[in-house]
Amino acid sequence: MAYDSKTGTQLTLEDDNVSRGGKRVVRNGSPSNNLVLSAYAAANEDVFPKILDLYVAPGSTVADVTYGKGVFWNKVGPETYNLLPTDIAMGTDCRDLPYEDGSIDCVVLDPPYMHSPGGTAHTGHQPYESYYKNNSTGNRTRSKYHEAVLDLYVDGGREAYRVLRDRGTLIVKCQDEVCSNRQRFTHVEIMHEYEALGYVTEDLFVVMRNNRPGVSRMSKQVHARKNHSYFLVFWKRGATGPTWEPPA
Ligand SMILES: C[S@@+](CC[C@H](N)C(=O)[O-])C[C@H]1O[C@@H](n2cnc3c(N)ncnc32)[C@H](O)[C@@H]1O
Repeated sequence: MAYDSKTGTQLTLEDDNVSRGGKRVVRNGSPSNNLVLSAYAAANEDVFPKILDLYVAPGSTVADVTYGKGVFWNKVGPETYNLLPTDIAMGTDCRDLPYEDGSIDCVVLDPPYMHSPGGTAHTGHQPYESYYKNNSTGNRTRSKYHEAVLDLYVDGGREAYRVLRDRGTLIVKCQDEVCSNRQRFTHVEIMHEYEALGYVTEDLFVVMRNNRPGVSRMSKQVHARKNHSYFLVFWKRGATGPTWEPPA
């Protein structure tokens, strides 16, 4: 319980958060530096649980629609959420989910950051294809490269909007890229597209890789080499107000 030095009285929990002129003012609260931060030099599996802690109440139904190997979940207690893992490799396309409208509390979306359009393009990038499955899974877009990446984020985000309940959370992983010598700030493009779909952008986390990126052959470097990616947090506004309320 906190202590009010002005009045010399102990404060109850209710007193700690008082209302002044319609604004909630936190007068007390336990001091802590164990806070969730906006940037980490860490692995996805270390950052992802912190985002869940902040934005998704335990017991929630969470659809991870690009589950892959499930790395995000390595450090999340198996009983904490009602996890629904799917992936195109398991037969479920994130643009066509088998859930009722408004039935899901949180969607996690981590589609390919890179597009390997097949043919002779990106022949040196076969590992990307085996990991991302851009071609073998018939990604439904005529676009290539960055536009194809963005199409999947937008179509996946639209489908997530359908299945999310009002005020449900969408956690998106993405990375910016330089494509055809143009700087593409994927995270900003996603925010614009998602706000147009009806989402509110609520938070942004930077994940910086610990190891150095591989050596590239180039005569003169033009843009900074990316060594960071993002988790973005959105929520479905629906018919509700624009202010986020943390999970109880
Ligand atoms: C970056 S990996 C996801 C890694 C995952 N978050 C993890 O923790 O292991 C991208 C995933 O998207 C999947 N994918 C590609 N296109 C998809 C689609 N249209 N629908 C669902 N999953 C798709 C790939 O199969 C791959 O597993």
